[in-house]
Amino acid sequence: MKSNIALIGFMGVGKTTVGEILAERLGLKFFETDKLIEQRAGMTIPEIFRELGEIAFRDFEIEVTREISEQENVVISCGGGIVLNQINIDRLRLKSIIVYLSASPIIILGRVNHSKRVRPLLNTANKVAAVRRLLKDRKPLYERAADMKVDVSRSAEDVAEKIIHRLKEHEGHHR
Ligand code: S3P
Repeated sequence: MKSNIALIGFMGVGKTTVGEILAERLGLKFFETDKLIEQRAGMTIPEIFRELGEIAFRDFEIEVTREISEQENVVISCGGGIVLNQINIDRLRLKSIIVYLSASPIIILGRVNHSKRVRPLLNTANKVAAVRRLLKDRKPLYERAADMKVDVSRSAEDVAEKIIHRLKEHEGHHR
């Protein structure tokens, strides 16, 4: 049985909040690829994008994903662009159930506008257009990577409950 849960989905869908709740309820350890990257680089995410560029950021992302995907009994909250490199998904899949948190562009915009987190890819004059464009490109990648898809237009607690419920069903099918 796979002992990890990897949360994927667009920026702002609540991967961190839902991941922390899941980890607590299931007695798993919680990790975020973005935090691991910041520790590795000794810089914040916006600094990495600004000073080293997106390609360097993606290299860090591949490196930390390789390491974290080898762990057991962890919840991994993945940066929104994790699906851009298929190798990340291939590695995560070895030990993780991949859960896609999905939301409409409207919900995402509302959430990223209220968030303190700085997101370099949305730091543009037209945030609405940026979200729509990125989401259109990535949606098929999230869909393809997902073992399970959960809509997030409800509270983080409800989303976590739903995932736990669906995981039990999932486990049942594999016995
Ligand atoms: C990114 C999402 C961010 C972070 C970086 C790039 C993306 O993580 O990894 O800014 O490409 O979607 P969150 O999804 O946690 O905001």
